Amino acid sequence: PDTLTVLGIESSCDETAVAVLRSSGEEEAPDILSSVISSQIAIHRQHGGVVPELASRNHSADLPGVIRSACREAGVTPADIDVFGATAGPGLVAALLVGNSTAKALALATGKPFVSVNHLEGHLLSPFVKRPKGPVPHLGMVVSGGHTLFVDVRGVGDYRLLGRSLDDAAGEAFDKVGKMLGLPYPGGPEIDRMAARGNPEAFSFPRALIKEATANVSFSGLKTAVLYKLPKLTESGNPHDLAEQTLCDLCASFQRAVTDVLIRKALYALRLSGHRTLSVSGGVSCNRELRTRLQEICAREGVELILPDFDLTTDNAAMIAYVACLKARRGLFHSLDEDVDPNLKL
Ligand code: KG4
Ligand code: ZN
Repeated sequence: PDTLTVLGIESSCDETAVAVLRSSGEEEAPDILSSVISSQIAIHRQHGGVVPELASRNHSADLPGVIRSACREAGVTPADIDVFGATAGPGLVAALLVGNSTAKALALATGKPFVSVNHLEGHLLSPFVKRPKGPVPHLGMVVSGGHTLFVDVRGVGDYRLLGRSLDDAAGEAFDKVGKMLGLPYPGGPEIDRMAARGNPEAFSFPRALIKEATANVSFSGLKTAVLYKLPKLTESGNPHDLAEQTLCDLCASFQRAVTDVLIRKALYALRLSGHRTLSVSGGVSCNRELRTRLQEICAREGVELILPDFDLTTDNAAMIAYVACLKARRGLFHSLDEDVDPNLKL
């Protein structure tokens, strides 16, 4: 099997990322020669969330330097790259255009092929980047800031959506509740940390659709329940007036509700799919309670659980280069006329 060196670019939201992967065939895991991420979180934090215009301007300013670092670390130049891949969606359109157009320009200049990558497929297959033989048929749960998906993965590019969030994505719920509680953006990691010191049974929050025969989830009612709770806990309604322990209890109770729902629906979707292997990906798969509880339940139920390493859970370009590599091995390249799509579906 011939060696492929792939450069991937990710710029769908607030991380500017470039990775170089070297694959010597699908029997072995590719070597991640470099995976550089320049995060804009500190910039967007001042605004309480991602500002699209700022995101694209910063991608533009940062990307050349990030490409240079990724190539230097990998010991390659653009001339050594066999395939260029970039995220084409879903995401912020002006942010996507920066990374996507840059990858096309590199492909054009070097005469090498281009692969347009779906960000969700990147997350979905990220648990397999470091495993030999690549993706196996399984049930994939993608829990990111923008999406919550339960996917029957039959093979590379062969996906059947079994369930999704009907409103807020899991990460979005973490971020919105974090904001309500006066925590810095993004709320997910903050809530994870505070929840460790709280009582998950202090407040009883709703678990929508948990008993229904569906693999869909909904988090907007849970978010509203936290919002309505606040004025009952402080006279001012200002989260900064909450006692430290109350704040931790709110975080723990909210997190318990989210993880209860995600775990129940993962097991439901697993039964629908007939698979005995579950993978979890996307930023929320960093959540320690989710990881620990899934590990316990899967061990008990005899389900194989595949979690990505922490460096592959939140947005990164290694997962994008990985998908580009899998597509390239199957001869699936894209024209340089291929557009980005902010609403791209899996
Ligand atoms: O996958 P990702 O980097 O971006 C999207 O494609 O959306 O996910 C970011 C999301 C954010 O909503 C963030 O709050 C959440 O992942 N997140 C977490 C944790 N770490 C990141 N949520 C809960 N617990 C965490 N430890
Ligand atoms: Zn993502």
